[in-house]
Amino acid sequence: MRPSLLKSTAELLRRSRGYASTANPERKVAILGAAGGIGQPLSLLMKLNPLVSSLSLYDIAGTPGVAADVSHINSPALMKGFMGDDQLGEALEGSDIVIIPAGVPRKPGMTRDDLFNINAGIVKALCTAIAKHCPNALVNMISNPVNSTVPIAAEVFKKAGTYDEKKLFGVTTLDVVRAKTFYAGKAGVPVTEVNVPVVGGHAGITILPLFSQATPASNSLSQEDIEALTKRTQDGGTEVVEAKAGKGSATLSMAYAGAVFADACLKGLNGVPDIVECSFVQSTVTELPFFASKVRLGKNGVEEVLGLGELNDFEKKGLESLKVELKSSIEKGIKFAHGN
Ligand code: NAI
Repeated sequence: MRPSLLKSTAELLRRSRGYASTANPERKVAILGAAGGIGQPLSLLMKLNPLVSSLSLYDIAGTPGVAADVSHINSPALMKGFMGDDQLGEALEGSDIVIIPAGVPRKPGMTRDDLFNINAGIVKALCTAIAKHCPNALVNMISNPVNSTVPIAAEVFKKAGTYDEKKLFGVTTLDVVRAKTFYAGKAGVPVTEVNVPVVGGHAGITILPLFSQATPASNSLSQEDIEALTKRTQDGGTEVVEAKAGKGSATLSMAYAGAVFADACLKGLNGVPDIVECSFVQSTVTELPFFASKVRLGKNGVEEVLGLGELNDFEKKGLESLKVELKSSIEKGIKFAHGN
């Protein structure tokens, strides 16, 4: 038999047996809060990701239904649902990445900080379990307020002796997703070609899109346009909360963003070079201990936290004013982690 035919026969056999056809390492992803508005479509998207070999869906309610439903999809990832505290350990065991969209979402009139009292406790409990059952996993924190839940997670891991700053990420990808869409629409360029770094944090004015660094560059946008795009990116979440009129916040676009970020983390873990995404991580880019900026992802998580690049005067002003709010949200998280 010709070598090329041998190769394609082997490939066919592998496929018919349901094996992954690539040489990627086995990767387990756990989603905590998998039965929620974000959790369900995120579970679907991660089941479709060819880099995932095992998918673990955990929630305090409703996981058996979601897991049974998603498990019928024709992709190689093996999956299992887990429900309730006593199954959390098994859900986490052996995970390479844990994605956390657990907790309550905003209703109209609420800020992300209004969610603090409920979500802080949830995140603290889940991170305590992560420290015990999969201390080496990358943690993708979606639960709001991200500006506080990431510092809470860091403190929990420090207390458990498992903290690795390279492995903890606040997911701010939705801000980038929004900035790209809004910029592409206004500048009249294809969204698939657009990139816009978004730095700072993940709430209101702490979200700072750097449109001066957007690619492809546009010279058709006025300063007024840029200011309107900045405000729309900062208020993007509220736009959805109001349109949903009491039925929650962004879920579908967030699931998309969460899947994009998790895919980047998987690629980094697998050694794919030059994987760069914005994320809220431990940082020395400013004087604040956590800050969102471009991050190069690698085999151990964060490989390099990239600097801000050159900012224009409007962005410099935005940076100075966001620091006050971001500092206080970070401190609030740290205080909670120590006090409870
Ligand atoms: P949801 O209420 O639809 O779903 C939350 C899920 O978490 C529910 O299924 C609930 O049973 C589960 N849950 C509650 N306590 C839990 C625990 N201790 N362990 C495991 N699961 C638990 O809410 P949705 O819309 O899915 O939002 C989830 C979180 O994501 C919210 O905090 C929301 O503010 C945040 N979010 C973050 C965004 C970001 O850009 N980072 C964007 C949009 C939302």
